[in-house]
Formats: sequence, C-alpha cells, structure tokens
Amino acid sequence: MTDSKFYDWRYLYLKQAYFNSFLKQFKLPCPPYNSPQYWDAAYKSFGPNDSYEWGDVTMSDVKEYEYFDMEWDAQHSSSYPSKLSNQSTLSAALNIDHQHDDSVEIRTQAQQQQRPILMLGCGNSRMGEEMIEQGGFKGPIMQVDVSRSVVENMRQRCSDLVSIGSMSFVQDDATELSAFRNNMIDACLDKGLMDAIFCAEDYHQLNQIQQTIHRVLRPGGSFVFFSFSRPEFLIPKLMMLDEPSVHIDDFQRRIPWTNIEVQQLPKILLYKMQKANGNASENKQMITRSKTNKKQMKRR
Ligand SMILES: C[S@@+](CC[C@H](N)C(=O)[O-])C[C@H]1O[C@@H](n2cnc3c(N)ncnc32)[C@H](O)[C@@H]1O
Repeated sequence: MTDSKFYDWRYLYLKQAYFNSFLKQFKLPCPPYNSPQYWDAAYKSFGPNDSYEWGDVTMSDVKEYEYFDMEWDAQHSSSYPSKLSNQSTLSAALNIDHQHDDSVEIRTQAQQQQRPILMLGCGNSRMGEEMIEQGGFKGPIMQVDVSRSVVENMRQRCSDLVSIGSMSFVQDDATELSAFRNNMIDACLDKGLMDAIFCAEDYHQLNQIQQTIHRVLRPGGSFVFFSFSRPEFLIPKLMMLDEPSVHIDDFQRRIPWTNIEVQQLPKILLYKMQKANGNASENKQMITRSKTNKKQMKRR
C-alpha cells in the first residue's frame, strides 16, 4: 500500500467507522427518556413542592446572560471563540420583548390570551414560575407535560398564578399537542425535553416534536431550547441531514425553520430557531444554508 493510498478516502472512512463502533461500546446506557411511561412513573414519587431542574439551570442563569455564538457546520466546528462576547436576555432570545414592555401598548389583554408562551416538557421545574415572579414576563405561560402526575402537582403548586390567568397546565404529548390550534403560540421554550429525546436517540420523535411546535407557533415565532448536546452532533439529527431517505428539500417543506442560532451560555447551550414568515427569499436563504451544511457534513 503506497502512502497516497493509505490516506485515501476509503481508508479514512473505514477508520472513522471502526472508531465510531468502538466508541459505541463504551456509551453509557441512557434511561428510556423517550417513553411517557418512564416519566409518569418517575414523577409518582414527587409531591407538589418538589422540583428538579434539568441541567441545574434556573431563571437567574438565563434572565440576562453572556454568551458566544457557536458555528455549527463541520467547517467551523473546531474554531470556537475563547471568550464570552455577547449579551442577551431570555425575552430577546424568545423574541417577545413586547410581553413585558409596558410602553408597547399594541396588544390588548385579549390578544395576549390568544398568543401565550408555551413551555414544553415542564416537569416540576420552577422556571415557569420564575419567569413571571423574577423575569418580568406577564404570561400567560402554558406549561405542558406528557405526565399526568406532574401536571396535577404543578397545577396545585402554581394555583395562585393559575387563578389570575398568568399560567395554565395541559397534559399533552409534544408530538401531537392536540389541545393547541395552529399559529396560536407566540414563542415556545423547552429545557430538557429535546435534550432527553436526543439522548435516547429517538430522532423520529425529535422530528415529530419540531413539526408540532412549528404548527402551533405564529409565523415569525421563536422556538428556544436549552441543551448540553453540541451542535455538530445535534443539528444534523434535528434537520435529518444524515438520514439517507430524507432529502433536505423535503425537510424544508415540512419544517421551514429560519435563523437557526446556537449560543454557548456559561452552563448550557441555547438553540434558537424561528418559524419563517412565509417570505420566499427568507426560505430560499435557509435552504441554501442547509444544503451547504449538508455538503460539509458529507465531506467529513
Ligand atoms: C428532562 S425533563 C425536563 C424537565 C424540566 N423542563 C426541567 O427543566 O427540569 C423532560 C420532561 O419532558 C417530559 N416529556 C417527555 N416526553 C414528552 C412528550 N412526548 N410530550 C411532553 N412532555 C414530555 C417529561 O415528562 C419530563 O418532565
């Protein structure tokens, strides 16, 4: 074998495949995070006053935060800037600054009622309460979880906020959101659901959840989620870029996200994407960017 052959693409491909299968043997087993029964059983041992924070991330970590932008294509994935350089707030990430700006009197209370913030896979996290009590959000925040036990406990714990109409709880499956109409949500927030499903390697469910969120978001509305998974692994799965049976154009037709951003916060990563406004050039730009990324992924 000559030197040039030794380094040809087949050799590199085989080396990578061998390395991946080697790594897989040492992957720690992941609980069945993609199973609603698993979560319901887990929450049965908790009471209304118990809370657990995925990633130990609370409102104080994200109300106002410093971050750096992360490039998520293969070409740039190894060149992250070394220092935090930007500032943002959770409401800016969610693109809902009007929700807690009294000077903007565009929306009536009735209009706000039709356009709530959706908190998916809320569990018994205190994030929703803290958004209203410390974060300056007015709500209404609609908290959703697939587990009936946790939804009942949360409804009891947050009864004051529920009684004034700032919060509501719905037991629903994020892959369907059958209780929600199209385009009715201003912004959607998730801490832990997408991450847990990704960890369980249920990419089909990951895709279904995105489709459902996309359906209920208003045009231009944002979907923000927190995750520990790095973009070079998560984004191809989110967009099904390495799924041979799915062409990128099919994905774009089904879930036309635009402006996908990844921010590195001190404790966790923030993923942000927007439902396209229906503007043709915006959609075209997104398709071009995705194709470029797909090519780069293939080249690796
Ligand atoms: C990792 S926990 C995160 C809980 C909470 N958001 C936090 O920050 O600690 C994931 C949550 O998603 C919920 N969940 C799992 N699958 C779901 C589904 N298909 N639809 C709605 N919620 C789901 C679980 O019951 C659980 O509460």
